[in-house]
Amino acid sequence: MTSRFLVTTEIPGPGLSLLKNAGEVTLLPEPPSYEQLRELTASGDYDVVITQLRDQIDAELIANARLKGVANYAVGYNNIDVLAATGHGIQVGNTPGVLTDATADIAFALLLATSRRIVEADRFVREGRFHGWEPEMLLGKDLTGATLGLAGFGRIGRAVAQRALGFGMKVIFAPRPPEHREVSQAELGKFAGQVTQVRWEELVERSDYLSLHVPLASQTHHLVDAAVLAKMKSSAILINTARGPVVDEAALVEALQSGEIAGAGLDVYEQEPVLAPGLVELGNTVLLPHIGSATGPVRAKMSELSALNAIAMAEGEKASHLVNPEVFSQ
Ligand code: NAP
Ligand code: GLV
Ligand code: GLV
Repeated sequence: MTSRFLVTTEIPGPGLSLLKNAGEVTLLPEPPSYEQLRELTASGDYDVVITQLRDQIDAELIANARLKGVANYAVGYNNIDVLAATGHGIQVGNTPGVLTDATADIAFALLLATSRRIVEADRFVREGRFHGWEPEMLLGKDLTGATLGLAGFGRIGRAVAQRALGFGMKVIFAPRPPEHREVSQAELGKFAGQVTQVRWEELVERSDYLSLHVPLASQTHHLVDAAVLAKMKSSAILINTARGPVVDEAALVEALQSGEIAGAGLDVYEQEPVLAPGLVELGNTVLLPHIGSATGPVRAKMSELSALNAIAMAEGEKASHLVNPEVFSQ
């Protein structure tokens, strides 16, 4: 039987032609509402749906879905109820690895931009306020010698560590915050002797820069809340390229307003695209519109990976990048 693919949003790169070569493709003219997506996935007209982070694939949708798979065009998959999908024998795929360096670059861009006040300085020049070199103009913070704390030490966390070591930073990490998981020297690989594992509480207290690289899960929802912000150094900067709800954004705004921490660089928000009240008025933030993986080559690779996942799923084979392998063992 011909494989039938539902694509919720046009994707760049080779994905669509790969899908067209493998079967029939329905590309929606605009992103579907939750109700539309629920109807389409329940219709039995499609084998696999290629989804974006804004497509909510929850337990209710899955309960009615007649699908073999969901291929997410992202590495994160917090928009999908994976447990429910597994229960219904639905494969869930993602796009790991290909966006690791691009996302680490954005985390580092935020580190540099917040520490050296890059956006503010650019505005300063454009506004005609630059009247010549001044000893105390736009003073920032050093990266060299400062301590970078990484919450999460997976693919992106490690890629950020690599960059930080190149900048002469001290790197500490907690792999599975807020819980503790001991990482062996063997698991550290090339980072052995170069980075130090600490408990989450210590990471919070010691970091000059705290950068988040965990997935959004029940354990990481509001990982950084008012209590954590209160324990951070008042000179510290928070970087979030993970997921918005990992941070209590209202509490972050308060902490930035009161000087409890010094700044924040954000690529993700709790209720994208809506920002917490007060956030845009703050000078000590750099705010990006969720562009971690946004380079042409990376988006093309994500396109290819999600299409290959979808094709395998439609043909009843195991997707190469499968989030729920249990689907084959139950
Ligand atoms: P990864 O390689 O799977 O690394 C995830 C890290 O988080 C690991 O250290 C892992 O610990 C830890 N972790 C996993 N589940 C956890 C839990 N329930 N509670 C606490 N810690 C947990 O993932 P990655 O490729 O680095 O991506 C990380 C996240 O970045 C993605 O999930 C996504 O949300 C986000 N992201 C954002 C952008 C963007 O555009 N801003 C782009 C790409 C990714 P273990 O080693 O113990 O499993
Ligand atoms: C982007 O946020 C991703 O998870 O790929
Ligand atoms: C600054 O431009 C310097 O030369 O120190």
